[in-house]
Amino acid sequence: MPNTIIIGLQWGDEGKGKIVDLVCPGFDAVVRFQGGHNAGHTVKFADRHFALHLIPSGILHPEKQCVLGNGMVISPAALLEEIDSLEAAGVETDGCLLVSDRAQLILPLHAALDAAREEALGDEKIGTTLRGIGPAYGTKVSREGLRMCDILAPDFAHRVETRLARVSKILPNAAALLDETRDAWPEWRYRLKPLIQDTQTILNDWIDEGKSLLFEGAQGVLLDVDQGTYPYATSSSVTAGGASTGSGVAPTKMDGVVGVLKAYTTRVGEGPFPGELLDDVGERIRRRGNEFGTTTGRPRRCGWLDLVAVRQAIRQNGVTVLALTKLDVLDSFEEIPVCVGYRVGGKEIRALPADSEIVARIEPQLEILPGWNEETVGLEKYEDLPEKARKYVEYIESFLGVPAAIVSTGPRREETIAREHELLPGLAS
Ligand code: GDP
Ligand code: IMO
Ligand code: MG
Repeated sequence: MPNTIIIGLQWGDEGKGKIVDLVCPGFDAVVRFQGGHNAGHTVKFADRHFALHLIPSGILHPEKQCVLGNGMVISPAALLEEIDSLEAAGVETDGCLLVSDRAQLILPLHAALDAAREEALGDEKIGTTLRGIGPAYGTKVSREGLRMCDILAPDFAHRVETRLARVSKILPNAAALLDETRDAWPEWRYRLKPLIQDTQTILNDWIDEGKSLLFEGAQGVLLDVDQGTYPYATSSSVTAGGASTGSGVAPTKMDGVVGVLKAYTTRVGEGPFPGELLDDVGERIRRRGNEFGTTTGRPRRCGWLDLVAVRQAIRQNGVTVLALTKLDVLDSFEEIPVCVGYRVGGKEIRALPADSEIVARIEPQLEILPGWNEETVGLEKYEDLPEKARKYVEYIESFLGVPAAIVSTGPRREETIAREHELLPGLAS
């Protein structure tokens, strides 16, 4: 049974939640390994609709174990709120949720620092989700952070005060924010104690017992702190490599990487976006694709599919199979351009440059593919797709050199075309 990593290949919101929920019956446990409640993963089936932020999308399958790995940054308040809202919706979380004792905490101070930094940046702001993600990874790396294991320590209040002493000086209302943390602590400790575990050891024990793990990436490779459009990025390791560092499972135990790819491109927040459609075509995609943030409600910026950026993401992450989502959103277009090359100042370049100012100057080279102009919503068989839609899928597969095991034709579980693949057991049965 494989251990499979699922990551987003664009700027997030590729439909990872739908895909994880769909394939997780073939696995024993689902593991988040980076990010925090900046993520918004949507799962829909029948008349049910869930937006998950911290808890893996496997939670809707009662027999699956769900793990929040050591690479995450977790707001205890947001986690408890998410547990409560799932329980209120009739989803059992008791006994199937574990949180790494090494995961970093997002405290009220971190969220306030996120807001203060965005305000100070003014026009140059990142457009973060304001969840405190960047400051929490900042204090992690500078070794001033607090972790889940600290919640269990009797001197938690003292640890908060000493470790955050330096960053507290940045904010005028820090004392009140630290008081808020101290006041909330008894409830956090009482409710989270049974969940906080040495998940690195547990995950490796499960592998030794022959269980298979599904790693659920958040965000997308183009938002990765190293590989993404820095500084317009998130602060975590979104990449396939992040699944190992963020879970404690060695790269040699991983069997492969599935890339989730939307049939066009979106981005939320600031930062360069080669080929962004600022006209009514972009608006049409946004409306038909319902491209509004799952976490913040912000309208997502839209553009055609950028195959150059995706090819780079595939190469750097060892992706061997794709889940192509939202094909149905392109149903009504006569022509569908895709970006197959980049030029800057008339000169061809092969990949996204490091400097975001140069990325902003990219002139995308487009190939115009014929649209199918027919409904594909909900189709479940590849041969039922219009021929031009199949040609679109096959063009993508051939350009990227990677097959699509999943073509998604709607937000619901059943609205899916699936082929068998060794990394996704049981998918097509
Ligand atoms: P994630 O962050 O990668 O999990 O993606 P989000 O949940 O933020 O955004 C994806 C959105 O597209 C959600 O509203 C999904 O319900 C929806 N979605 C996923 N797959 C499809 C699809 O194939 N077609 C359509 N029309 N919507 C989809
Ligand atoms: P999922 O998992 C899309 C973006 C923010 C901002 C940048 C930095 O749902 O795909 P942060 O709060 O992380 O410091 O913000 O990253 N961003 C996302 N965009 N989907 C996400 O998650 C995102 N998580 C963060 O909009 O541009
Ligand atoms: Mg999302």
